[in-house]
Amino acid sequence: MLTWYRRNRALTATLFSLIDERAFYDRPIPLRHPFAFYEGHVPAFSFLTLNVRGLGEASVDPDLERLFERGIDPASMDEARRHDRPAWPARDAVATFAAQCDERIERALEYAAIEDSRVPRLVRAQAAYTLLEHEQMHQETLMYIVHQLPYERKQRIVGRHEDRALLPVPPRRVAAGTATLGADADALTFGWDNEFQRVEVDVAGFEIARYPVTNGEWKRYVAQGGPVPLFWHERNGEWWLRLLFEEIPLPQSWPVYVTHQQARTYARALGMRLPSEAEYHRAAFGTPSGEERAFPWGDERPDARHGNFGFERYDPEPVDAHPAGESAWGVADLAGNGWEWTSTPFAPFPGFAPMASYPQYSADFFDGRHYVLKGASPVTARGLVRRSFRNWFYDDYPYMYAKFRCVSA
Ligand code: AVJ
Ligand code: FE
Repeated sequence: MLTWYRRNRALTATLFSLIDERAFYDRPIPLRHPFAFYEGHVPAFSFLTLNVRGLGEASVDPDLERLFERGIDPASMDEARRHDRPAWPARDAVATFAAQCDERIERALEYAAIEDSRVPRLVRAQAAYTLLEHEQMHQETLMYIVHQLPYERKQRIVGRHEDRALLPVPPRRVAAGTATLGADADALTFGWDNEFQRVEVDVAGFEIARYPVTNGEWKRYVAQGGPVPLFWHERNGEWWLRLLFEEIPLPQSWPVYVTHQQARTYARALGMRLPSEAEYHRAAFGTPSGEERAFPWGDERPDARHGNFGFERYDPEPVDAHPAGESAWGVADLAGNGWEWTSTPFAPFPGFAPMASYPQYSADFFDGRHYVLKGASPVTARGLVRRSFRNWFYDDYPYMYAKFRCVSA
């Protein structure tokens, strides 16, 4: 865990170094705090979760701990304004605080009794896992916020990008059967509270697109009056795609990143719909023989062959780039290359209980206005690629790396 923590901190530092010094207080997404918050939030959350709440240790700086404790997810700009702070601390004050937190966290990970079956927050080292995966989620959050930062205010990284012509392919038929959502408490070393408990759902047979909807397909929809995705940009009658660090001619074979609202409108226009969470599970983990597998490709641990995740690159790839990741039904690109929207509102599974190490993690978002996303994006940590992991966002939130595919009947 100490090695994992240091690796996390190193990647987080690398990601922050992509941002210009003068952009430290910038807030490229007005529904989120400025970068200054995130540089303090990650170590503050870790320290509060493990050292203060888990182990009962004393504070390093109660004011900064309170300031950096939690991010925001307002539904509107009006609501966002209520979270405005008059001033954020100077960058060196944030760095000093972060270093103090790091030192205490490293010491705890190395020497403290972070696993204790009698203390709910420490059962199976829950607090330690919580902070480790929390930082990894924030690495992704940071990237999609940096994405909205003007190119002059960040480093320029020019990648090699592939695009190719894709022939239309027929959808895949997924037979009726059982989808197992969630997980048993003892089945995972660690999981977030919304992943529990295990629930079996009967799913009727359906057809599902082999690949997520591509930019090329969405372009035809735009030509018919469909909405322009946030990441697209029109110049001299040509479409360009705004990547994290450069703008390139719109790659036709890459998945289109859109909101849930946009995705479901597209599906409806074609006489189809979005898959439910259970249908995603069926298409990804189910098999014609009836058994269910850990990953779309089987039970092998995720690696770079299986999909575009784990910071192998910053950008998407063609939807057919990873045949090794196809599910038993031949459905491709299910894990990686962008999260996949489902039609399922984010809600607890039967038997849900808020987790001791972070009781507000999910519970605050069971409001019927967030939708479940499955899979992973290029900048999702490899360790978060697991069957039961669930992500969620508002249906009009346009900043996420989120794709979709259509189902029918
Ligand atoms: C699970 C990605 C929706 O970013 O709001 C980070 C993760 N929660 N800190 C979010 C999270 C608290 C969460 N998502
Ligand atoms: Fe957080």
